[in-house]
Amino acid sequence: MTIAIIGTGSVGAALGRGWAAAGHAIRFGSRHPQSDDVQALVASIGSQAAATPPAEAAAAAEVVALAVPWGAAQSAVESLGALSGTILIDCTNPLAAGLQPAVGSDTSGAEQIAGWAPDGARVVKAFNTTGANNMADPDYAGTPLSMFICGDEADAKSTVARLAEDLGFEAVDAGPLDRARLLEPMARLWIHLAMTDGFGREIGFKLLRR
Ligand SMILES: NC(=O)c1ccc[n+]([C@@H]2O[C@H](COP(=O)([O-])OP(=O)(O)OC[C@H]3O[C@@H](n4cnc5c(N)ncnc54)[C@H](OP(=O)(O)O)[C@@H]3O)[C@@H](O)[C@H]2O)c1
Repeated sequence: MTIAIIGTGSVGAALGRGWAAAGHAIRFGSRHPQSDDVQALVASIGSQAAATPPAEAAAAAEVVALAVPWGAAQSAVESLGALSGTILIDCTNPLAAGLQPAVGSDTSGAEQIAGWAPDGARVVKAFNTTGANNMADPDYAGTPLSMFICGDEADAKSTVARLAEDLGFEAVDAGPLDRARLLEPMARLWIHLAMTDGFGREIGFKLLRR
């Protein structure tokens, strides 16, 4: 499948490399598609990858992954043009200064993004609850990390679950899109554990069952 990834930072690069390795075509949507850094990323992935302005990348794709800072999310989404029927994966975390939440507890970044997205976009929250290092390698001594996914459309979530499995995650359907109100604070927990509490980035969440 052709996947557009908006943003060429840590998350965009990890997802692009992983999905290209799984056989997908990658279209990075970048503000500076011809920059040395973006062209180096594209070259490192190979012929399945290209970089264009965001709207052009999105127009070519069945799935669009949004991987930009929260402060840029609204303008990035609104710049994408028509997304009718397109799956829009929200990988962002709505963070303000000091790792404080940038949205209240009675909504979520994902729900705001669904409101900003053009009619017909099918928003799924995923790839926000763990670090980009784990997106590059979710294997912990033979055990795959869980990737929690939420959204209001079963078909769209199934597609995103397969894309999580393509990276090596176990996909967990965490319910409707408003469960992003839980997944986004979970990301803040990961960040605090990893970055301020001394655990480091080589940690991740796993749902156990018995
Ligand atoms: N880093 C992680 O481990 C991690 C894990 C889970 C979720 N997230 C979330 O995923 C999103 C992306 O994180 P990241 O770590 O990949 O960020 P990053 O390394 O800073 O990269 C973000 C990318 O977004 C694009 N962008 C578009 N508008 C921008 C603007 N106004 N300012 C800066 N960059 C802009 C840039 O690509 P172009 O220059 O090519 O346009 C940039 O490379 C964030 O919402 C973050 O909270 C991060």
